[in-house]
Amino acid sequence: MRTVELQIQDIAFGGKGVARDEGKAVFIPFTIDGERLSAEIVREKKQFAEGELLALLEPSPHRVAPECPYFGRCGGCSYQHIDYAHQLEIKTRQVEQAMRRIGKLADPPMRPSVPSPLPYGYRNRITVHAEDSVVGFYRRDVHELMDIARCPIAMPEVNEALAQLRKGRVRDGHYTLRAHSGPRVFAQTNDAVAEALAEQIAQMFIGEEKLLIDAFCGTGFFLKRFAPAFERVVGIDWDRFAIEAAQKDTGANEAYVAGDVATKLRWLLEKNELTPTALIVDPPATGLSAEMRRAILDAPPRTMIYVSCNPPTLARDLAELQQRFEVISITPFDMFPQTAEIEVVAHLSGHK
Ligand SMILES: C[S@@+](CC[C@H](N)C(=O)[O-])C[C@H]1O[C@@H](n2cnc3c(N)ncnc32)[C@H](O)[C@@H]1O
Repeated sequence: MRTVELQIQDIAFGGKGVARDEGKAVFIPFTIDGERLSAEIVREKKQFAEGELLALLEPSPHRVAPECPYFGRCGGCSYQHIDYAHQLEIKTRQVEQAMRRIGKLADPPMRPSVPSPLPYGYRNRITVHAEDSVVGFYRRDVHELMDIARCPIAMPEVNEALAQLRKGRVRDGHYTLRAHSGPRVFAQTNDAVAEALAEQIAQMFIGEEKLLIDAFCGTGFFLKRFAPAFERVVGIDWDRFAIEAAQKDTGANEAYVAGDVATKLRWLLEKNELTPTALIVDPPATGLSAEMRRAILDAPPRTMIYVSCNPPTLARDLAELQQRFEVISITPFDMFPQTAEIEVVAHLSGHK
């Protein structure tokens, strides 16, 4: 394999540095934009190559010591070697670029990114795996379990649960360790950032909407909070355990429906007489399906809030939704510091 000297120009989604070698993009993990380095090319494809850092020739001023002894080998974190302010800059730039290139927004209405008050110790749950008495996470490069005694991005309560688990003989399998008890369904991972997310969303309604639909509602994290401001709120999720949990302690104007958003959303938007309407969507990383986008475009709500954990699919969906919506703002939320994950909220107005 050959060795090359490169200058990192950018950081791609997923966290790898991007350099150019004779016009070809080379992706190198654990590097920072601006750095000059030597790297070994470990995989060579027609369109791009992948390298591993050998030596830093000009390190970035943003380079810091990672807090975790497993960093670089564990598959979880990608950015512990970058100071927190610069991690935020990288994520904001990635979101803006996706909005321009994929979202077809000439001048994306970016709002300042919202940092996590805790850059470490924020995760309220982790899932560890156990195999032959090894308890931990998979390595980033090979499918091999690493023994992990402590995860610095997890909350102290979660690390305490990990220590307890590791005390006994652990049967092979997966274990989700949580700081809070609750049903075994999707829940926001960073409590403080989830709170900030809900607070910002609350400011996005115009105050005249009567019905709020939350597609992909989970246990009703958003609806439970916003219900008092609407005549009626309806949540949809196909996880019946999440819907059962949401149905506990509901107010008179709350309804939760178990089912597929692809079929239920069109019906709700078209049959609705409680206008103006607001819609929150918080889909999985795949974003909205073509069928869901069509249903929204055929009966656009007055206010739409799109919460995304995957900027490229958000951008793809916004490119189409602009037929009937104006994009008012795009705000990155740093739900997952030290990792390459990004949460984004897009505020849309269905005035067209
Ligand atoms: C990112 S989570 C959002 C949860 C919620 N907003 C919260 O804060 O807890 C996505 C949710 O969408 C649900 N889901 C995914 N695809 C779906 C579909 N096609 N129809 C209905 N629910 C779906 C999952 O069960 C999961 O609860």
